Amino acid sequence: MISSKSIRVFAPATVANVACGFDVLGFAIHGLGDYVTARFSDVSGLSIESVTGDDGRLPRDPKKNTAGLAALALMKKTGMKDGVGIALSIEKKMPLGSGLGSSAASSAAAVVAVNELLGKPFSLQDLLPFAVEGEIAASGTAHADNVAAALFGGFILVKTHNPPDVISLHTPPKLFCTIIHPSIEIQTRNSRLILKKEVQLEKAVTQWGNLGALIAGLYTEDYDLIGRSLHDEIVEPVRSMLIPGFAEMKQAAMEAGALGCSISGSGPSLFVLSTSEEIATKAGKEMGKVLKEIGLEFDVHISKINTEGASVVDNL
Ligand code: HSE
Repeated sequence: MISSKSIRVFAPATVANVACGFDVLGFAIHGLGDYVTARFSDVSGLSIESVTGDDGRLPRDPKKNTAGLAALALMKKTGMKDGVGIALSIEKKMPLGSGLGSSAASSAAAVVAVNELLGKPFSLQDLLPFAVEGEIAASGTAHADNVAAALFGGFILVKTHNPPDVISLHTPPKLFCTIIHPSIEIQTRNSRLILKKEVQLEKAVTQWGNLGALIAGLYTEDYDLIGRSLHDEIVEPVRSMLIPGFAEMKQAAMEAGALGCSISGSGPSLFVLSTSEEIATKAGKEMGKVLKEIGLEFDVHISKINTEGASVVDNL
C-alpha cells in the first residue's frame, strides 16, 4: 500500500549577481516563486505528473526538467530501492526567462519536497548540490547563486561552486527591492555566451572592492555604503545592451532615491534596492514610464528581502 503523504513546498524568486557579485551573490524576494508537490506514486522512479503556469513549455521528462534533475540527484544519493515511485507536480508562479531564478525556484522546491517526503535524510545545507544539478541543465553551468538564495533565503555568498560552499549573509532590515520585468525573454545560457572571458585587472580591482564593501555594508547595516557598492564594471555593460531602456530605467530609479539598480541575474528584469517602500514604489513607477514610452509591457513587483527561503506549505 502506497503512503498517501503529500508535501507541497514554496521556493522564492531570487536576484542573482546583485550588481558586483557575478555568480557569487544572491538574495530571495517574497511573492514570486514556484510550488512543487511531491507524493509517492505507483509508477516506479521519478515522474512529473503536472506542470502549470508554463504554457506547456517546460519538459515533462524528469531527466530534462530542472526540478526533475534536482530530485533525481537526491533520490540517487539516498540509494532508493527500485520500484519506489515519486511524482512531482510543479506550479510556476513566476515568468520564465525573466532573470528571477525561475529554474532555481523549481529545483529548490523539488529537493525540499522530496527530502521531506522521504523523512528528511538530508539537512537543508546538504540539499544544495542536488538543486545545482537542475541549474546545470538550465544554463549549462553549475552556478549556485540563485538556488542557494532560493533554498536558504536572505543574502547568500557562493564562496566556491564545486563543491558548493555557501555563506548566508546578514540581511539589513530596512531594505526594499523593486523588480521591473520587461516583457521580453532572455535565456541565461545565451546571456552567458556574450560575456567576455577575460577581465581587465583595473576593472577586477574595482569589482572586488565593491563586492567586499557591499558585504561589509550588509553586516554593518550601512545603507550608504551598500548604495556606493552596487556597481558592476564587468557584466552589466555587456548584458544591458539586451535590455531596451536600461540606462534610462536605471537613471529613473536613482533619481527616485534608490540605493542602487542593476540587472537581476541574466536579465531582462532589473532590481532596485531602496531604504523605504515609498522610494521602492516611486522607482518602479518612474522606470515603468520609460518602458511605456518604448512601448514595452512590463510588471513591477515590490518586496522586502525574503529571509526564509524554501519552506513546506502543506504536509498532508
Ligand atoms: N549568475 C547567473 C548569471 C545567474 O548571471 O548568469 C543566472 O540567473
